Amino acid sequence: MSFIARGLMAAIIAGSGHAALAQTEVKLGYALAPASHYGVAAEAWEAHVEEATEGEYDFVHFPSSGLGGEREVIEGLQLGTVETTIASSGTLSNFVPEAGVFDIPFLFRDFDHARAVLDGPVGQEILARFEDVGLKALAWGEQGFRHITNNRGPINTAEDLAGLKLRTMENPTHITAFETLGAAPTPMAWPEVIGALQQGTIDGQENPLTVITSAKLSEVQEHLTLSGHVYAPTVFLVSLPFWEGLSEDEQQDFQEGAIAAQSAMRAYVDEIEASGLEQLKAEGMSVNELSSEERAAFREALAPAYARYAEEYGSGLIDRIVAAE
Ligand code: PAF
Repeated sequence: MSFIARGLMAAIIAGSGHAALAQTEVKLGYALAPASHYGVAAEAWEAHVEEATEGEYDFVHFPSSGLGGEREVIEGLQLGTVETTIASSGTLSNFVPEAGVFDIPFLFRDFDHARAVLDGPVGQEILARFEDVGLKALAWGEQGFRHITNNRGPINTAEDLAGLKLRTMENPTHITAFETLGAAPTPMAWPEVIGALQQGTIDGQENPLTVITSAKLSEVQEHLTLSGHVYAPTVFLVSLPFWEGLSEDEQQDFQEGAIAAQSAMRAYVDEIEASGLEQLKAEGMSVNELSSEERAAFREALAPAYARYAEEYGSGLIDRIVAAE
């Protein structure tokens, strides 16, 4: 909530005779700046809950990793020291291993496919697993399809990745993929990434256009390869101890707020998918896009990784995702 909005809310509460103390603070942590798909989703979640509960809940935003890296924030939710977060799939599979299935490279055909799977039975089954680890997962959001940026050169083939010090998320599925392709994946929490790129301790990183634009990666990266190698979901999470303290009506308000936030996030992603590339070119990035033959060659090179994923997640689950319309 902004300073002005906070003042206004305090005045309304005072005027309406409600005790200001009745307001419950809801800390909401996320990795990127307010002007990003995360910020837009966070505002939409807050707006819905505040309106539905008549200001009972006061969202306090901690953007730009203000509460630490995503793993730390999720651990805070488990402990009950942080109430809510919007998190990428970076460390999710360390909490709910099945969530890593969505990180398999070239699994989703396009946005419609990914959104249908996440909103459908498979996505909902995996959301339900979070309760076993002290988290309530309300809905899936997204960042877009991930692309590779680096300072060494354009990527067209797996050979172009050889030995490339590529920052990945702390995500075993991604790490397996880049190891299989011959890169030197370097898992790292997001708050360290810009500094590591500036200092040259890593050559590149991979993220969707939403992140590349909002984190101003064009200032530290020269080449952008539109690889679309993996879809990047996010999840709207609530601390289970906090959730269990809400009334049924309030739980519904938080749930509906997460759905409103999901729509806002997807709309923002759609907008950046349409405009982000021109922005990055204008900011000086050199851009190449994998042809369909090049993408097929990457998929072929990933065969040993796909065998491991089938063992890990079960080919039944992967087939259900592929078959979804
Ligand atoms: O690369 C990551 O760690 C994530 O995509 C990011 C940038 C933290 C956004 O959730």
